[in-house]
Amino acid sequence: MTFDLKDYRTALGSFATGVTIVTTLDSNGNGHGLTVNSFTSVSLEPPLVLWCLGNKSDSFDLFSKCDAYAINILSDSQGEMAMRFAGKGDQKLAVGEYAALETGSPILPGTIAAFDTKVAKRIEAGDHLILIGQTMAYQSHQGQGLAYFSGQFGSTAALAKS
Ligand SMILES: Cc1cc2nc3c(=O)[nH]c(=O)nc-3n(C[C@H](O)[C@H](O)[C@H](O)COP(=O)(O)O)c2cc1C
Repeated sequence: MTFDLKDYRTALGSFATGVTIVTTLDSNGNGHGLTVNSFTSVSLEPPLVLWCLGNKSDSFDLFSKCDAYAINILSDSQGEMAMRFAGKGDQKLAVGEYAALETGSPILPGTIAAFDTKVAKRIEAGDHLILIGQTMAYQSHQGQGLAYFSGQFGSTAALAKS
């Protein structure tokens, strides 16, 4: 079968996900973030999670070499933030815009959960790098998540228990 890349991406987009901002610190201690929906939980014991970093990303150098990152799971009111960190430039976090748990990676306010991880393994896979992290600390809050489906943002509110 020959693949039309655009059509293939559209087919992949029919898998609904949540939306995260993955954050880390650069060597000067500045916080950076990247919008990511390839996050998944891998293992409970030990607690491992992963996400996939595109090798064309301007942030590739930073995230591919970092020793720790945090996964911030966005609430349904954080669509604008998702767009900000999906764009080119302006992906630096201002001091005071975030907190820290154990590794120092930026923990963003207003999310429904955050996982603070140390990088456990890096696996090259085609045009992406799989970054497996061990969760060192986490937090979770009540609220509805930001959903992503077929290129559109939405809310998990429709799934809420009545
Ligand atoms: C909903 C959504 C999900 C995304 N998921 C990923 C992802 O899993 N991995 C990734 O490398 N980029 C992902 N991106 C793209 C990055 O956010 C985008 O490449 C980046 O922010 C653009 O700047 P950069 O050149 O610094 O990467 C996603 C974008 C959006 C809007």
